Amino acid sequence: MSKLLITGASGFVGSFLVEEALDRGYDVYAGIRNSSSRKYLQDKRIRFFNIDLSSRSELEKALKKEKFSYIIQNAGVTKAKNEDTYYRVNAQAVDDFVEVLKHMDAVPEKFVMISSLAAYGPADNKKELLVTRQSQPQPVTTYGRSKLKGEQLLRQHEGFPYSIIRPTAVYGPREEDLLTVYKMINLKLELLIGNQDQKLTFVYVKDLVRAILDVMIKSKSGSDYFVTDGNVYSASEFNDEIKKQLKTSTLKLKLPVSLVRIMAILSEKMSSLSGNYPALNLEKVKELECQSWECDISNLREDIDYKPAYSLSEGIKETIDWYKSRNIL
Ligand SMILES: NC(=O)c1ccc[n+]([C@@H]2O[C@H](COP(=O)([O-])OP(=O)(O)OC[C@H]3O[C@@H](n4cnc5c(N)ncnc54)[C@H](OP(=O)(O)O)[C@@H]3O)[C@@H](O)[C@H]2O)c1
Repeated sequence: MSKLLITGASGFVGSFLVEEALDRGYDVYAGIRNSSSRKYLQDKRIRFFNIDLSSRSELEKALKKEKFSYIIQNAGVTKAKNEDTYYRVNAQAVDDFVEVLKHMDAVPEKFVMISSLAAYGPADNKKELLVTRQSQPQPVTTYGRSKLKGEQLLRQHEGFPYSIIRPTAVYGPREEDLLTVYKMINLKLELLIGNQDQKLTFVYVKDLVRAILDVMIKSKSGSDYFVTDGNVYSASEFNDEIKKQLKTSTLKLKLPVSLVRIMAILSEKMSSLSGNYPALNLEKVKELECQSWECDISNLREDIDYKPAYSLSEGIKETIDWYKSRNIL
């Protein structure tokens, strides 16, 4: 059995990666911190591996204990109050990780970095209004810039076997940011915020994790992929699908971006008291203003024969069923 380390295993994508990897017969090491929740890591076959990416010495300490055939660097900071936190984990930790693996003669067969479409930014100013691997990266958020920096640092390690995955917005059970949208629609309220002519892309979490594990095995070193479900959606389609599944109608409230920006500033200020960074934040507002998040997944189809199993409708249905089964909705 190949030993596979998945960092960020306690998170939304990470917990699904662990399940899919166990199903595929890997000896799965769930990379977590002391403070991480094990709520979605209950399978008895999981081995826990303490790994904190916030300092190089912590990484060294952790990696002295085990060698892995494969590593998926999925841990990431998606919301943070300051730039340093984004760069520390999304960029510097990737570089440190590789350095330590090389130094300890523990280079795996493949190291997969989970980046983000945000690293390349929206399709707005791109040729043919589509983000491709040849596009000039133009991230619009600190998060995106930190992911791009992580990719650049990784590429500098010549001869190191890696692949990079850039998912678009991921949805599915256990996800907590989009959950706000489901909850509001359930309360018959729909906030139309940002650019309503926006073109959006999504991927269901189970399709994403299958793609990640296929890329890990099948694709050559140095490869990189955007991941969506292959469709492009209008701004209203995601909400319309939730309404259809919940069999509800809503009162629509259209909010100008300027007002949303003020709301984001207020929610950032309020949450600074609690120590959390809110789902509605100034970075999110920058993303809402963009025209299109369409991107090219043709190399994913060619290299791993990627065929998403879930339509948006099927994915949202499964997500709603899950939320309802836990009384979250
Ligand atoms: N969700 C999306 O729509 C989306 C889209 C594109 C790319 N991505 C990328 O996919 C990956 C997973 O995202 P997600 O949505 O699953 O996020 P998530 O639920 O917030 O999970 C993030 C994970 O990273 C871990 N982590 C954060 N800082 C760490 C550190 N210093 N040391 C060790 N672990 C640390 C967290 O551990 P704790 O539980 O201990 O905090 C958690 O397990 C991220 O790299 C993200 O950038 C996500």
